[in-house]
Amino acid sequence: MNEVTVFIMGKGYRVPAGLTIMKAMEYAGYRLTRGCGCRGGYCGACATVYRLKGDYKLYGDLACQTTVQDGMYIAQLPFTPAERPAYRLEELQARGETLLALFPELARCVACNTCTKACPQKLEVMDAVQAALRGDIPGVADLTFDCVSCGLCTMRCPAEISHHHVWQLARRLNGAYLTPRAPHVAQRVEEVRAGKFKGELDRLVAMPKEGLVAAYKARDIEP
Ligand code: FES
Repeated sequence: MNEVTVFIMGKGYRVPAGLTIMKAMEYAGYRLTRGCGCRGGYCGACATVYRLKGDYKLYGDLACQTTVQDGMYIAQLPFTPAERPAYRLEELQARGETLLALFPELARCVACNTCTKACPQKLEVMDAVQAALRGDIPGVADLTFDCVSCGLCTMRCPAEISHHHVWQLARRLNGAYLTPRAPHVAQRVEEVRAGKFKGELDRLVAMPKEGLVAAYKARDIEP
């Protein structure tokens, strides 16, 4: 078998080449109860830092999306402790000042671009910070649509910005106040409220498991 040597939390292991960092950790005997979620690059739970032999640089990536390399020194980060102010969305206004009022550290950005280099999703993180400083909420929401909140940018930021929490607020404000309403969704919500689907739901709830499995397999799927 083609194997590589990796060092996980300081201890060396021989693992099959081609595994992701997450699978290599499990191959080495780690049971992941933290720092592991969707395994598909969507949830951001598996932020990992590593260094390669002979390379001074500290790399950050998602453990479920990154393949092991020989001589990799790996440390798993279960989560990034970051400042998150409490707010009630319905009491906020979708204005640029709102972002800065809740996250004043945005103004400390020195435009070093370290956040962009740290992003495993290859997002233009620093551009999003600049959009936030300009009060461009839809711009922030757009630039950070694929953010998985892994926190790697926040960890490297010299201005201590809690990027992922800022982006979440911007997307919430954008979704709640600035995005045009979808009339068909409102209509469907009304139908649900009026009990249009109650009979069907009651029928599903009462169904035995085999019937549910058969109904699931036979469901209409969009091509
Ligand atoms: S486990 Fe969800 S992004 Fe890696």
